Amino acid sequence: MTQKHCYQPVTARDYRRLAEKRLPRFLFDYVDGGAGREQSLADNQNDFSRYRLRQRVLRDVEQVDTASELGGRRVSMPVALAPIGLAGMMARRGEAIGARAAARAGVPFTLSTVGVCPLEEVNAAAEESCWFQLYMLRDRGFVESLLENVRARGCQTLMFTVDGPVAGMRHRDTQNGMLGGAAWIRALQLATRPRWLLDVGVKGKPHEFGQLVEVVDGPNGFKAFKAFIDAQLDPCLTPETIEWLRSRWPGRLLVKGVMSAEDALAVADAGADGVVVSNHGGRQLDGAVSTIRKLPEVVEAAGERLEVLMDSGVRCGSDVVKAVALGASGVLIGRPWIWAMAARGEAGLSDYLAMLRQEITVTMALMGVNRVGDLGPELLEMNPPD
Ligand code: FNR
Repeated sequence: MTQKHCYQPVTARDYRRLAEKRLPRFLFDYVDGGAGREQSLADNQNDFSRYRLRQRVLRDVEQVDTASELGGRRVSMPVALAPIGLAGMMARRGEAIGARAAARAGVPFTLSTVGVCPLEEVNAAAEESCWFQLYMLRDRGFVESLLENVRARGCQTLMFTVDGPVAGMRHRDTQNGMLGGAAWIRALQLATRPRWLLDVGVKGKPHEFGQLVEVVDGPNGFKAFKAFIDAQLDPCLTPETIEWLRSRWPGRLLVKGVMSAEDALAVADAGADGVVVSNHGGRQLDGAVSTIRKLPEVVEAAGERLEVLMDSGVRCGSDVVKAVALGASGVLIGRPWIWAMAARGEAGLSDYLAMLRQEITVTMALMGVNRVGDLGPELLEMNPPD
Protein backbone atom coordinates (compact mmCIF):
# COMPACT_ATOMS: atom_id res chain seq x y z
CA MET A 1 0.00 0.00 0.00
CA THR A 2 1.41 3.39 -0.90
CA GLN A 3 1.30 6.13 1.70
CA LYS A 4 -1.22 7.99 -0.41
CA HIS A 5 -3.80 5.29 0.28
CA CYS A 6 -2.99 4.83 3.93
CA TYR A 7 -5.53 7.03 5.66
CA GLN A 8 -8.70 6.90 7.68
CA PRO A 9 -11.63 7.84 5.44
CA VAL A 10 -13.70 10.71 6.81
CA THR A 11 -15.33 12.72 4.07
CA ALA A 12 -17.53 11.69 1.14
CA ARG A 13 -14.51 12.35 -1.07
CA ASP A 14 -12.38 9.91 0.92
CA TYR A 15 -14.99 7.18 0.60
CA ARG A 16 -15.40 7.88 -3.10
CA ARG A 17 -11.69 7.31 -3.67
CA LEU A 18 -11.78 4.02 -1.79
CA ALA A 19 -14.96 2.90 -3.55
CA GLU A 20 -13.21 3.47 -6.86
CA LYS A 21 -10.60 0.92 -5.82
CA ARG A 22 -13.11 -1.64 -4.63
CA LEU A 23 -15.75 -1.56 -7.37
CA PRO A 24 -15.43 -2.77 -10.94
CA ARG A 25 -15.17 0.28 -13.19
CA PHE A 26 -18.65 -0.10 -14.71
CA LEU A 27 -20.27 -0.10 -11.26
CA PHE A 28 -18.19 2.79 -9.96
CA ASP A 29 -19.08 4.83 -13.05
CA TYR A 30 -22.75 3.86 -12.84
CA VAL A 31 -22.83 5.45 -9.37
CA ASP A 32 -20.42 8.31 -9.98
CA GLY A 33 -21.57 9.51 -13.36
CA GLY A 34 -24.19 11.95 -14.52
CA ALA A 35 -26.00 12.67 -17.75
CA GLY A 36 -24.48 14.32 -20.81
CA ARG A 37 -21.56 16.65 -20.08
CA GLU A 38 -22.23 16.23 -16.35
CA GLN A 39 -22.85 19.97 -15.93
CA SER A 40 -25.71 19.54 -13.48
CA LEU A 41 -23.74 16.92 -11.59
CA ALA A 42 -20.98 19.48 -10.99
CA ASP A 43 -23.33 22.42 -10.35
CA ASN A 44 -25.26 20.51 -7.69
CA GLN A 45 -22.17 20.38 -5.51
CA ASN A 46 -20.50 23.65 -6.50
CA ASP A 47 -23.58 25.81 -6.00
CA PHE A 48 -23.64 25.12 -2.28
CA SER A 49 -20.69 27.54 -2.23
CA ARG A 50 -23.00 30.34 -3.38
CA TYR A 51 -24.44 30.33 0.11
CA ARG A 52 -22.24 31.16 3.07
CA LEU A 53 -23.07 30.76 6.72
CA ARG A 54 -23.31 33.56 9.25
CA GLN A 55 -20.94 32.97 12.13
CA ARG A 56 -22.55 34.05 15.41
CA VAL A 57 -20.82 34.07 18.78
CA LEU A 58 -21.58 34.88 22.41
CA ARG A 59 -24.36 32.31 22.72
CA ASP A 60 -24.76 29.25 24.86
CA VAL A 61 -24.42 26.30 22.48
CA GLU A 62 -23.80 23.54 24.96
CA GLN A 63 -27.02 21.75 24.06
CA VAL A 64 -27.14 21.70 20.26
CA ASP A 65 -29.77 19.20 19.12
CA THR A 66 -29.85 17.95 15.51
CA ALA A 67 -33.09 15.98 15.98
CA SER A 68 -35.98 16.93 13.76
CA GLU A 69 -39.12 15.77 11.89
CA LEU A 70 -38.77 14.39 8.39
CA GLY A 71 -41.40 12.76 6.19
CA GLY A 72 -43.71 12.25 9.12
CA ARG A 73 -41.23 10.72 11.55
CA ARG A 74 -38.75 11.74 14.18
CA VAL A 75 -35.14 11.67 12.98
CA SER A 76 -31.79 12.18 14.71
CA MET A 77 -30.80 14.69 12.03
CA PRO A 78 -32.61 16.09 8.96
CA VAL A 79 -31.23 13.41 6.64
CA ALA A 80 -32.51 10.27 4.89
CA LEU A 81 -30.76 7.82 2.58
CA ALA A 82 -31.86 8.27 -1.04
CA PRO A 83 -33.20 5.42 -3.16
CA ILE A 84 -30.38 3.98 -5.26
CA GLY A 85 -31.10 1.38 -7.91
CA LEU A 86 -28.82 -1.66 -7.77
CA ALA A 87 -27.35 -0.62 -4.39
CA GLY A 88 -27.16 -4.33 -3.64
CA MET A 89 -24.38 -4.65 -6.22
CA MET A 90 -22.13 -2.15 -4.44
CA ALA A 91 -21.73 -4.30 -1.33
CA ARG A 92 -23.02 -7.72 -0.42
CA ARG A 93 -26.80 -7.36 0.14
CA GLY A 94 -26.27 -3.59 0.01
CA GLU A 95 -29.82 -2.42 0.68
CA ALA A 96 -29.97 -4.50 3.87
CA ILE A 97 -26.68 -2.91 4.99
CA GLY A 98 -27.95 0.57 4.16
CA ALA A 99 -31.20 0.07 6.04
CA ARG A 100 -29.44 -1.30 9.13
CA ALA A 101 -26.91 1.54 9.26
CA ALA A 102 -29.67 4.11 8.72
CA ALA A 103 -31.80 2.62 11.51
CA ARG A 104 -28.83 2.70 13.88
CA ALA A 105 -28.18 6.32 12.97
CA GLY A 106 -31.84 7.23 13.50
CA VAL A 107 -32.58 8.26 9.91
CA PRO A 108 -34.90 6.77 7.26
CA PHE A 109 -33.73 4.45 4.51
CA THR A 110 -35.44 4.57 1.13
CA LEU A 111 -35.63 1.34 -0.87
CA SER A 112 -35.63 1.77 -4.66
CA THR A 113 -38.11 0.03 -6.94
CA VAL A 114 -35.02 -1.33 -8.66
CA GLY A 115 -33.21 -2.42 -5.53
CA VAL A 116 -31.68 -5.87 -5.32
CA CYS A 117 -32.89 -6.92 -1.88
CA PRO A 118 -36.59 -7.54 -1.36
CA LEU A 119 -38.44 -5.27 1.06
CA GLU A 120 -38.88 -8.12 3.54
CA GLU A 121 -35.12 -8.63 3.77
CA VAL A 122 -34.47 -4.89 4.13
CA ASN A 123 -37.02 -4.39 6.90
CA ALA A 124 -35.83 -7.48 8.75
CA ALA A 125 -32.22 -6.24 8.66
CA ALA A 126 -33.21 -2.83 10.04
CA GLU A 127 -35.85 -4.12 12.45
CA GLU A 128 -38.04 -1.27 11.25
CA SER A 129 -39.93 -0.31 8.12
CA CYS A 130 -38.16 1.71 5.48
CA TRP A 131 -39.51 4.26 3.03
CA PHE A 132 -40.31 2.95 -0.43
CA GLN A 133 -39.53 4.63 -3.74
CA LEU A 134 -41.80 3.96 -6.68
CA TYR A 135 -41.22 4.23 -10.41
CA MET A 136 -44.51 4.09 -12.23
CA LEU A 137 -44.84 0.99 -14.36
CA ARG A 138 -47.15 0.52 -17.30
CA ASP A 139 -48.57 -2.56 -15.62
CA ARG A 140 -50.84 -0.78 -13.12
CA GLY A 141 -52.22 -4.04 -11.78
CA PHE A 142 -48.69 -4.95 -10.73
CA VAL A 143 -48.16 -1.51 -9.19
CA GLU A 144 -51.30 -1.99 -7.11
CA SER A 145 -50.11 -5.34 -5.81
CA LEU A 146 -46.67 -3.85 -5.12
CA LEU A 147 -48.25 -1.04 -3.11
CA GLU A 148 -50.31 -3.52 -1.14
CA ASN A 149 -47.16 -5.42 -0.22
CA VAL A 150 -45.33 -2.20 0.68
CA ARG A 151 -48.21 -1.19 2.92
CA ALA A 152 -48.53 -4.64 4.46
CA ARG A 153 -44.84 -4.51 5.38
CA GLY A 154 -45.47 -1.41 7.45
CA CYS A 155 -43.99 1.27 5.18
CA GLN A 156 -45.49 4.65 6.00
CA THR A 157 -43.88 6.82 3.35
CA LEU A 158 -43.99 6.39 -0.40
CA MET A 159 -41.64 8.41 -2.57
CA PHE A 160 -42.89 8.65 -6.12
CA THR A 161 -40.14 9.60 -8.58
CA VAL A 162 -41.33 11.65 -11.54
CA ASP A 163 -38.11 12.87 -13.16
CA GLY A 164 -37.47 9.70 -15.13
CA PRO A 165 -40.17 9.44 -17.78
CA VAL A 166 -37.24 8.43 -19.98
CA ALA A 167 -33.74 7.47 -18.87
CA GLY A 168 -31.11 10.23 -19.01
CA MET A 169 -28.16 9.98 -21.41
CA ARG A 170 -25.44 8.54 -19.18
CA HIS A 171 -22.50 8.17 -21.48
CA ARG A 172 -20.24 6.45 -18.98
CA ASP A 173 -22.69 3.55 -18.84
CA THR A 174 -22.60 3.20 -22.61
CA GLN A 175 -18.81 3.42 -22.66
CA ASN A 176 -18.66 0.57 -20.16
CA GLY A 177 -21.08 -1.60 -22.12
CA MET A 178 -23.63 -1.35 -19.30
CA LEU A 179 -26.58 -1.00 -21.59
CA GLY A 180 -25.95 -3.98 -23.79
CA GLY A 181 -23.27 -5.26 -26.14
CA ALA A 182 -19.57 -5.28 -25.27
CA ALA A 183 -19.83 -7.73 -22.36
CA TRP A 184 -16.05 -8.24 -22.71
CA ILE A 185 -15.49 -4.70 -21.40
CA ARG A 186 -17.17 -5.57 -18.13
CA ALA A 187 -15.44 -8.96 -18.01
CA LEU A 188 -12.04 -7.24 -18.24
CA GLN A 189 -13.02 -4.75 -15.59
CA LEU A 190 -14.25 -7.54 -13.33
CA ALA A 191 -10.95 -9.38 -13.66
CA THR A 192 -9.23 -6.50 -11.86
CA ARG A 193 -11.56 -6.66 -8.88
CA PRO A 194 -11.38 -10.26 -7.57
CA ARG A 195 -12.30 -9.18 -4.05
CA TRP A 196 -15.60 -7.66 -5.23
CA LEU A 197 -16.17 -10.66 -7.48
CA LEU A 198 -16.04 -13.10 -4.61
CA ASP A 199 -17.63 -10.98 -1.90
CA VAL A 200 -20.51 -9.48 -3.87
CA GLY A 201 -20.53 -11.18 -7.25
CA VAL A 202 -20.57 -14.72 -5.84
CA LYS A 203 -21.51 -14.58 -2.15
CA GLY A 204 -23.97 -11.71 -2.64
CA LYS A 205 -26.43 -13.68 -4.76
CA PRO A 206 -29.24 -13.70 -5.68
CA HIS A 207 -28.90 -10.59 -7.82
CA GLU A 208 -32.50 -10.13 -8.74
CA PHE A 209 -34.65 -7.04 -8.64
CA GLY A 210 -36.16 -7.85 -5.27
CA GLN A 211 -39.46 -6.05 -5.84
CA LEU A 212 -39.83 -6.98 -9.49
CA VAL A 213 -39.17 -10.68 -9.76
CA GLU A 214 -42.61 -11.07 -11.31
CA VAL A 215 -42.01 -8.56 -14.11
CA VAL A 216 -38.28 -8.64 -14.82
CA ASP A 217 -37.06 -11.64 -16.72
CA GLY A 218 -34.10 -13.66 -15.69
CA PRO A 219 -32.03 -13.66 -12.55
CA ASN A 220 -29.36 -11.23 -13.46
CA GLY A 221 -27.83 -8.25 -14.90
CA PHE A 222 -28.03 -5.07 -16.73
CA LYS A 223 -29.63 -6.52 -19.80
CA ALA A 224 -32.67 -7.32 -17.70
CA PHE A 225 -32.45 -3.85 -16.19
CA LYS A 226 -32.45 -2.18 -19.58
CA ALA A 227 -35.21 -4.41 -20.90
CA PHE A 228 -37.24 -3.53 -17.83
CA ILE A 229 -36.66 0.21 -18.31
CA ASP A 230 -37.56 0.07 -21.97
CA ALA A 231 -40.63 -2.04 -21.51
CA GLN A 232 -42.09 -1.02 -18.19
CA LEU A 233 -41.21 2.56 -17.20
CA ASP A 234 -44.25 4.68 -17.91
CA PRO A 235 -43.30 7.88 -19.79
CA CYS A 236 -46.82 9.23 -19.40
CA LEU A 237 -46.67 10.78 -15.93
CA THR A 238 -49.23 13.53 -15.29
CA PRO A 239 -50.95 15.06 -12.25
CA GLU A 240 -53.61 12.38 -12.77
CA THR A 241 -50.97 9.75 -12.10
CA ILE A 242 -50.40 11.33 -8.69
CA GLU A 243 -54.16 11.43 -8.08
CA TRP A 244 -54.34 7.75 -9.03
CA LEU A 245 -51.61 6.97 -6.51
CA ARG A 246 -53.17 9.20 -3.87
CA SER A 247 -56.40 7.22 -4.07
CA ARG A 248 -54.47 3.99 -3.48
CA TRP A 249 -51.83 5.07 -0.96
CA PRO A 250 -53.18 6.20 2.41
CA GLY A 251 -49.71 6.86 3.89
CA ARG A 252 -47.42 9.80 3.34
CA LEU A 253 -46.83 10.57 -0.33
CA LEU A 254 -43.71 12.49 -1.43
CA VAL A 255 -43.12 13.33 -5.09
CA LYS A 256 -39.44 13.30 -6.02
CA GLY A 257 -37.95 15.26 -8.90
CA VAL A 258 -39.84 18.56 -8.67
CA MET A 259 -37.76 21.54 -9.81
CA SER A 260 -40.21 24.42 -10.30
CA ALA A 261 -42.93 26.36 -8.50
CA GLU A 262 -45.50 25.39 -11.15
CA ASP A 263 -44.84 21.68 -10.78
CA ALA A 264 -44.92 21.95 -6.99
CA LEU A 265 -48.36 23.54 -7.17
CA ALA A 266 -49.59 20.79 -9.49
CA VAL A 267 -48.30 18.19 -7.03
CA ALA A 268 -50.08 19.94 -4.16
CA ASP A 269 -53.32 20.11 -6.14
CA ALA A 270 -53.04 16.38 -6.89
CA GLY A 271 -53.01 15.67 -3.16
CA ALA A 272 -49.43 14.70 -2.31
CA ASP A 273 -47.98 15.57 1.08
CA GLY A 274 -44.57 16.74 -0.03
CA VAL A 275 -41.94 17.06 -2.73
CA VAL A 276 -38.27 16.30 -3.06
CA VAL A 277 -36.48 19.03 -5.01
CA SER A 278 -34.19 16.83 -7.06
CA ASN A 279 -32.58 16.57 -10.47
CA HIS A 280 -31.73 12.94 -9.76
CA GLY A 281 -28.18 13.84 -8.84
CA GLY A 282 -27.56 15.24 -12.34
CA ARG A 283 -28.40 11.93 -13.96
CA GLN A 284 -31.42 12.96 -15.98
CA LEU A 285 -31.60 16.43 -17.60
CA ASP A 286 -28.06 17.62 -18.04
CA GLY A 287 -28.12 21.41 -17.90
CA ALA A 288 -30.89 21.47 -15.29
CA VAL A 289 -30.25 24.13 -12.66
CA SER A 290 -28.74 22.89 -9.40
CA THR A 291 -31.23 21.91 -6.72
CA ILE A 292 -29.87 24.23 -4.02
CA ARG A 293 -30.62 27.14 -6.37
CA LYS A 294 -34.11 25.88 -7.08
CA LEU A 295 -34.99 25.13 -3.49
CA PRO A 296 -36.15 28.67 -2.46
CA GLU A 297 -38.55 28.87 -5.42
CA VAL A 298 -40.18 25.57 -4.53
CA VAL A 299 -40.27 26.36 -0.80
CA GLU A 300 -42.09 29.60 -1.53
CA ALA A 301 -44.64 27.94 -3.81
CA ALA A 302 -45.19 25.09 -1.37
CA GLY A 303 -46.06 27.39 1.53
CA GLU A 304 -47.89 25.37 4.16
CA ARG A 305 -49.28 22.94 1.59
CA LEU A 306 -46.27 20.70 1.06
CA GLU A 307 -43.29 19.47 2.99
CA VAL A 308 -40.15 20.19 0.94
CA LEU A 309 -37.11 17.93 0.99
CA MET A 310 -34.15 18.25 -1.33
CA ASP A 311 -31.27 16.20 -2.68
CA SER A 312 -28.46 16.23 -5.26
CA GLY A 313 -24.99 17.35 -4.32
CA VAL A 314 -25.27 17.11 -0.52
CA ARG A 315 -21.91 15.88 0.74
CA CYS A 316 -21.33 17.29 4.22
CA GLY A 317 -22.97 18.75 7.30
CA SER A 318 -22.80 22.38 6.21
CA ASP A 319 -24.64 21.44 2.98
CA VAL A 320 -27.42 19.97 5.12
CA VAL A 321 -27.55 23.12 7.26
CA LYS A 322 -27.76 25.35 4.17
CA ALA A 323 -30.62 23.33 2.68
CA VAL A 324 -32.56 23.42 5.95
CA ALA A 325 -31.89 27.15 6.37
CA LEU A 326 -33.40 27.68 2.90
CA GLY A 327 -36.59 25.92 3.99
CA ALA A 328 -36.08 22.18 3.38
CA SER A 329 -37.28 19.88 6.14
CA GLY A 330 -34.29 17.70 5.32
CA VAL A 331 -32.14 16.20 2.60
CA LEU A 332 -31.56 12.87 0.92
CA ILE A 333 -28.00 11.62 0.66
CA GLY A 334 -27.35 9.74 -2.58
CA ARG A 335 -23.89 8.76 -3.79
CA PRO A 336 -22.05 9.29 -0.49
CA TRP A 337 -23.89 6.49 1.27
CA ILE A 338 -23.03 4.13 -1.55
CA TRP A 339 -19.37 5.17 -1.57
CA ALA A 340 -19.07 4.74 2.21
CA MET A 341 -20.71 1.30 2.05
CA ALA A 342 -18.73 0.15 -1.00
CA ALA A 343 -15.50 1.31 0.65
CA ARG A 344 -15.95 -0.01 4.18
CA GLY A 345 -19.25 -1.87 4.42
CA GLU A 346 -21.72 -1.18 7.20
CA ALA A 347 -19.04 0.24 9.51
CA GLY A 348 -18.02 2.73 6.83
CA LEU A 349 -21.59 3.89 6.32
CA SER A 350 -22.17 4.17 10.07
CA ASP A 351 -18.97 6.21 10.42
CA TYR A 352 -19.98 8.47 7.57
CA LEU A 353 -23.43 9.11 9.08
CA ALA A 354 -21.92 9.77 12.51
CA MET A 355 -19.47 12.22 10.96
CA LEU A 356 -22.31 13.95 9.10
CA ARG A 357 -24.23 14.39 12.33
CA GLN A 358 -21.18 15.73 14.08
CA GLU A 359 -20.60 18.19 11.27
CA ILE A 360 -24.18 19.41 11.52
CA THR A 361 -23.79 19.81 15.28
CA VAL A 362 -20.55 21.76 15.02
CA THR A 363 -21.87 23.92 12.17
CA MET A 364 -24.99 24.81 14.15
CA ALA A 365 -22.94 25.55 17.26
CA LEU A 366 -20.62 27.91 15.38
CA MET A 367 -23.67 29.66 13.95
CA GLY A 368 -25.08 30.07 17.44
CA VAL A 369 -28.08 27.82 16.72
CA ASN A 370 -29.32 25.12 19.09
CA ARG A 371 -32.36 23.73 17.26
CA VAL A 372 -32.89 22.62 13.67
CA GLY A 373 -36.16 24.58 13.69
CA ASP A 374 -34.23 27.79 14.37
CA LEU A 375 -32.31 27.58 11.08
CA GLY A 376 -33.58 30.14 8.56
CA PRO A 377 -32.50 32.12 5.49
CA GLU A 378 -31.42 35.06 7.67
CA LEU A 379 -28.45 32.88 8.70
CA LEU A 380 -27.13 32.69 5.14
CA GLU A 381 -25.30 35.20 2.98
CA MET A 382 -24.83 35.08 -0.76
CA ASN A 383 -21.33 34.61 -2.13
CA PRO A 384 -20.67 36.83 -3.97
CA PRO A 385 -23.31 39.19 -2.55
CA ASP A 386 -26.38 39.67 -4.79
C1 FNR B 1 -30.08 7.20 -8.16
N1 FNR B 1 -31.27 7.87 -7.92
C2 FNR B 1 -32.45 7.18 -7.91
N2 FNR B 1 -33.62 7.81 -7.62
C3 FNR B 1 -34.78 7.14 -7.56
O1 FNR B 1 -35.81 7.73 -7.28
N3 FNR B 1 -34.79 5.78 -7.78
C4 FNR B 1 -33.68 5.08 -8.09
O2 FNR B 1 -33.72 3.87 -8.29
C5 FNR B 1 -32.46 5.79 -8.19
N4 FNR B 1 -31.31 5.15 -8.54
C6 FNR B 1 -30.11 5.83 -8.49
C7 FNR B 1 -28.93 5.14 -8.74
C8 FNR B 1 -27.72 5.79 -8.63
C9 FNR B 1 -26.46 5.04 -8.86
C10 FNR B 1 -27.68 7.16 -8.26
C11 FNR B 1 -26.37 7.89 -8.07
C12 FNR B 1 -28.85 7.85 -8.04
C13 FNR B 1 -31.25 9.29 -7.53
C14 FNR B 1 -31.05 9.42 -6.03
O3 FNR B 1 -32.16 8.95 -5.33
C15 FNR B 1 -30.80 10.87 -5.62
O4 FNR B 1 -31.81 11.70 -6.14
C16 FNR B 1 -29.44 11.39 -6.07
O5 FNR B 1 -28.47 10.39 -5.94
C17 FNR B 1 -29.06 12.59 -5.24
O6 FNR B 1 -27.86 13.13 -5.67
P1 FNR B 1 -26.44 12.84 -4.97
O7 FNR B 1 -26.63 12.90 -3.48
O8 FNR B 1 -26.03 11.48 -5.44
O9 FNR B 1 -25.60 13.92 -5.53
